[in-house]
Amino acid sequence: MKRIIALLVAAFIFMLGVSLTFAQSAAPADSAHKYIGVNKCKMCHATEKIGAQYKIWEASKHAHAYADLASDTAKAVAKARGIDDPQKSPKCLKCHETGYGEPAGMFEASFDPTLGVQCETCHGAGSDYWKMATMKGIHAKTIDPASVGLLLPTEQVCVKCHNQESPFYHPFDFKTYSAKIAHPLKGE
Ligand code: HEC
Ligand code: HEC
Ligand code: HEC
Ligand code: HEC
Repeated sequence: MKRIIALLVAAFIFMLGVSLTFAQSAAPADSAHKYIGVNKCKMCHATEKIGAQYKIWEASKHAHAYADLASDTAKAVAKARGIDDPQKSPKCLKCHETGYGEPAGMFEASFDPTLGVQCETCHGAGSDYWKMATMKGIHAKTIDPASVGLLLPTEQVCVKCHNQESPFYHPFDFKTYSAKIAHPLKGE
């Protein structure tokens, strides 16, 4: 009996070690969730029935954030900072792409980085919440959104990019800016 207890204790300490190591190596606690890309969200969120969030996003500046780095304005601003190609510079991509700088293993094949500031920038990487049953469970409050990586973003998320490091910074007001990109759920 003593030996079994000793074994159990040893196993517990080992598991604790493993989970601590994991927690340290994985920067944000939820980084096990992977980016799947806006085209996956589009499969369901383009329908008018639930509010066509995809179409609203597609018409917003966030959808063009990467493409706009090829504009003459972008190039001029970049040149003044000694940057040749803004679409290749971490100094611009960090705010004009989704998940920029995260390890390659965090992105599934369906993810396309050229689609700018996508849903998952604000709502969290979607590999563990995109399935219909999960989405319905979150909505019905039987699933805790955080447990599958879904965020309902607050101002903190926006000001990671909407700050004075941006060459085109405009004073950011959460209420006004959220209203400009509003895409509520419909059909309840
Ligand atoms: C398989 C279809 C499907 C896919 C794919 C999908 N969703 Fe959803 N999602 C839904 C449906 C349906 C609802 C509304 C659930 C309801 O009304 O019961 C929803 C609800 C939501 C909500 C609101 C949750 C709440 O608190 O009520 C958010 C936010 C959301 N989806 C974001 C996303 C994002 C971001 C993606 C892509 C990473 C995505 N969804 C992919 C079907 C989907
Ligand atoms: C800290 C985040 C951040 C960085 C770094 C950043 N941007 Fe931006 N950029 C933004 C935000 C946010 C906006 C939207 C401006 C607003 O309305 O506040 C923007 C807007 C723009 C626009 C559109 C301007 C307009 O008024 O039409 C261009 C072009 C642009 N950025 C180019 C660049 C280039 C080139 C770099 C690299 C040298 C860069 N940005 C670096 C966050 C950033
Ligand atoms: C720039 C950040 C941002 C992007 C990009 C974004 N969202 Fe949102 N989303 C928000 C904010 C902010 C809210 C409001 C959260 C709240 O009500 O607490 C929201 C709300 C929602 C809701 C409604 C939740 C509810 O309970 O009413 C759905 C559904 C949703 N987003 C889906 C999407 C999908 C799908 C995409 C991509 C096509 C997307 N969002 C892109 C920031 C974003
Ligand atoms: C990953 C960086 C990033 C995050 C996070 C982010 N944005 Fe943005 N946002 C941008 C960039 C870049 C642009 C400008 C894109 C362009 O014009 O090329 C922009 C543009 C906008 C615009 C259009 C401004 C205009 O001049 O018309 C609004 C509104 C906006 N964002 C709201 C929000 C809100 C609200 C949040 C948080 C819920 C948010 N953004 C989070 C990067 C970000």
